[in-house]
Amino acid sequence: MHFNAAHRLARPDWSDEKNKEVFGLCSNPNYHGHNYYVEAKVTGEIDQETGFVIDIAVLNEILRTEVLEPLDHSNLNEDIAEFKALNPTGENIVVVVYDRIRAKLDSKYDLKVKLWETERNYFEYPAGND
Ligand code: NI
Repeated sequence: MHFNAAHRLARPDWSDEKNKEVFGLCSNPNYHGHNYYVEAKVTGEIDQETGFVIDIAVLNEILRTEVLEPLDHSNLNEDIAEFKALNPTGENIVVVVYDRIRAKLDSKYDLKVKLWETERNYFEYPAGND
């Protein structure tokens, strides 16, 4: 799924100069946006009754309510509780997205989340081989 959101990478305990040095244009005080792309991979046993691993409608509902609706067209720093005290880097966003899905997903499933911030860089959690 895609969502659009604004963010700023900065530490409040650092000066503007230090934030600019470490985070570059991503520390622009007036924020900037990305078109994020999220891929959620769910694995598990095939249910012998339905033939499904997971009902895709159930997964889509979790993604919609936990990720898409809260994050789409948001300012991640200002609007999303997890980022009040956490820098919204790709690394941290993918963990937040994972945690939000994981909290609603039956524990019998394994989950892996990938988050593309641009066409050239993505983040995945948990890390490791597929
Ligand atoms: Ni950015």
